[in-house]
Amino acid sequence: MTSRTQPAPDVPRKVLSAAGGVNRSLEAMEYAVRGQLVLRAEALARQLSRRVPDSQPSPSESPLPFHSVVYCNIGNPQSVGQKPISFVRQVLAAIMCPTLIAPDAPAVFPSDVVQRARDVLAASHGVGAYSESRGLPFVRARVAKAIHRRDGFPSHPDNIFLSNGASDSVKVLLSMLLRTPTDGVMIPIPQYPLYSASMTALNGAQVGYYLDEDNAWGLGVDELQLRLDEARGRGITVRALVVINPGNPTGQVLSEQNLKDIIHFCERENLVIMADEVYQKNVYTEEKPFVSFKKVVSELRSQVELASFHSVSKGVMGECGLRGGYMEVLNMDQYVNELIYKLFSVSLCSNIVGQVAVDLMMTPPEQGDPSYELYNSEVTNIYESLRRKAIAMSDGLNAFEGVRCNPSEGAMYLFPRITIPPAAVTEAKNLGLASADVMYCLEMLEATGICVVPGSGFGQRKGTYHFRTTFLPSEKEIPGVIDRMHRFHQQFMLKYS
Ligand SMILES: Cc1ncc(COP(=O)(O)O)c(C=O)c1O
Repeated sequence: MTSRTQPAPDVPRKVLSAAGGVNRSLEAMEYAVRGQLVLRAEALARQLSRRVPDSQPSPSESPLPFHSVVYCNIGNPQSVGQKPISFVRQVLAAIMCPTLIAPDAPAVFPSDVVQRARDVLAASHGVGAYSESRGLPFVRARVAKAIHRRDGFPSHPDNIFLSNGASDSVKVLLSMLLRTPTDGVMIPIPQYPLYSASMTALNGAQVGYYLDEDNAWGLGVDELQLRLDEARGRGITVRALVVINPGNPTGQVLSEQNLKDIIHFCERENLVIMADEVYQKNVYTEEKPFVSFKKVVSELRSQVELASFHSVSKGVMGECGLRGGYMEVLNMDQYVNELIYKLFSVSLCSNIVGQVAVDLMMTPPEQGDPSYELYNSEVTNIYESLRRKAIAMSDGLNAFEGVRCNPSEGAMYLFPRITIPPAAVTEAKNLGLASADVMYCLEMLEATGICVVPGSGFGQRKGTYHFRTTFLPSEKEIPGVIDRMHRFHQQFMLKYS
């Protein structure tokens, strides 16, 4: 006789399974930047790489109408050819392999690189040891000094938390803010989906506020007030406001006056400000230099609680893979600071190479240092190239009929609006796609090999359609990318008109 506790031999008993074994909030989470489009792009890239020159495709594969897949879906500069900054990699190489800078080793690096690496090694146990949970004290002290230099206001090293990219810090702060499903955080629409995805996972209420597309994706305080009041009317306890400046996916840069208005709003409404400033070095307009929330909060002597985030992934370093970032908190209770410390200590510490990369980003070589000339020319070339590509790409897109694109004042993206013909909207519905822009982007990928992200993955006003593209491919490639997009766009419009 079979015991009742013994499973039938052919019934799998998975603890983690779709049949109820996972956290449902995680299932509901969406992250378009790495979604359906990218999986298809990767499959197409594999198909291309299997193709031997002059050979026939396998019978199951029809020939592709392009020779390369171009990834414009993610702000990952080095994945599309951007070179790392020599100074950064030299210091990191030396700390990874200290024998390279042993006193008897041949001199392979400039003297300031050697000194920098020796300073890191002297002030730490090297890259193979955990650091303090907030991060290496000497790095935090130097980050604090660099913030002081940037803003003209002091920063305290104990208010700096070094993390694996900015993402981990953002998630820690959201996890502290969201106590129950009726706690909410205001996030921009469109927004970078780290926020929506993390809030879905944490079961919090997303309180969206719309950026004003007709006004260069501006952030209006009236809109904030409207959405806040609406949310409170629905019983949501709104606890914080996320501002992404410069914006992703929208590329706008906020003026100092705008920052002041936002700070006054948050003071009045008792909201924590989460200032995502990872693109602070990616500003391409002279009229609106980047101004940090920390600076304006300090100038106003405001007591508003602020957390600001920065990263080595963006700027001109583009060191996404090193996973270095930091969060600075201001005006937070000591209790909160200690709780953040506890949350960080559960993961012991962030990776040390990323921590050192943060130090190198915040305190680069200075004029007169042996590495300065090369550093300066590499940084300037990358920055100038980004600026030219931003203009070339938005000019290109604006020349398409039925496409309107605000220029990028900052960051690494454009978010053009596409007028999609009604027949295409119907077709997308018939296909069961979430939005017509998903179909537009899928068809673009199949026709051109260019991978962009549908606007619906970031949020957009009902009835409007967009896609997000980076302008990160090399300058040589950009005209070809625009041309491929243009030809596709014309065919798409013709097909559905
Ligand atoms: C607005 C914004 N915040 C945060 C991040 C996360 O960056 P990190 O690589 O530092 O985690 C990104 C990455 O694209 C971003 O665009």
